[in-house]
Amino acid sequence: MADVKAEVLEGLLGPAKTLHPKYFYDEQGSRLFEAITRLPEYYLTRSELEIFDAHLSDISSRVPGQSCIVEYGSGSSLKIRKVIEELDPAAYVPVDISREHMVAMAEALARDFPDLAIYPTCADFTDTFALPPPVAGLTKVGFFPGSSIGNFSPADAVGFLQRMAKTLGAGARLIIGVDLKKDPAVLEAAYDDAAGVTAEFNLNLIRHLGEVLHADLNPDRFRHRAVYNESLGAVQMFLDVRDSHDVLIGDRLVHFEAGEAIHTENSFKYDPADFLELVAGAGFAEVAGWTDRKGWFSVFLLEVAG
Ligand SMILES: C[S@@+](CC[C@H](N)C(=O)[O-])C[C@H]1O[C@@H](n2cnc3c(N)ncnc32)[C@H](O)[C@@H]1O
Repeated sequence: MADVKAEVLEGLLGPAKTLHPKYFYDEQGSRLFEAITRLPEYYLTRSELEIFDAHLSDISSRVPGQSCIVEYGSGSSLKIRKVIEELDPAAYVPVDISREHMVAMAEALARDFPDLAIYPTCADFTDTFALPPPVAGLTKVGFFPGSSIGNFSPADAVGFLQRMAKTLGAGARLIIGVDLKKDPAVLEAAYDDAAGVTAEFNLNLIRHLGEVLHADLNPDRFRHRAVYNESLGAVQMFLDVRDSHDVLIGDRLVHFEAGEAIHTENSFKYDPADFLELVAGAGFAEVAGWTDRKGWFSVFLLEVAG
């Protein structure tokens, strides 16, 4: 809590306000993200599932048996169910910051896969964390779908993947989903849907932090905005301040000026070749890669280079 307050204040007292996207996720945020994955505009989940449906058996044939799948940001269980059915691992380690949602998902999985050893791990995956001791002897298969890697800047993604390579160990595999560059109108609609679910998700960050920090942060005083920044190659989400007001956070008064923006998320989009260059710099080698029929999304199978 002290860490959260310090990080939030640092983001809100700087010259350009920012809040980290990990704060989207409490129970309500996780539920809203699940709703986003079913929206007509949010092609990412459908494109990735299309790739899994077509190529999971190929992926499975390239992964050692009796492995341990480590999912970074487990959230929804739809994709991992398909992966578990196809890869038949010995163990599964869901890693997520949203504890209640992760535990509920893990319990449901345990009922459906009674022979699978499941070790839910509540951790911030942007920090170093330890895998549960019982999986020490198993070959690891990292699973990082949903283009969550796009939430890191390319430079930060390299650092994050280097830490991941260390956690998973030499010879480990990584199944990773990556959203590709495309028509900006398609990209912007995916992050600003007509039903307003993404807006609610973005605003939930304000409600969630208000609750955690016991601060009078009111979502009604902010407006969701999403734009594709072509020069950066990222969709950027903001919360624009509707009316000027002050909020006491801990012992600091934070001023929000009407029209001012809080930056809440980047979703970087890649060309496949650029992405492969990035992962090579982080110590991963490509084993194989697949793209959906529209060419909108890619899944790569990578290997931690010895
Ligand atoms: C966009 S969802 C992706 C869920 C799922 N893997 C998928 O592809 O549909 C991101 C998930 O990562 C979790 N998450 C986000 N930031 C995190 C962090 N820094 N550490 C751990 N989990 C995080 C969220 O709680 C959420 O469940």
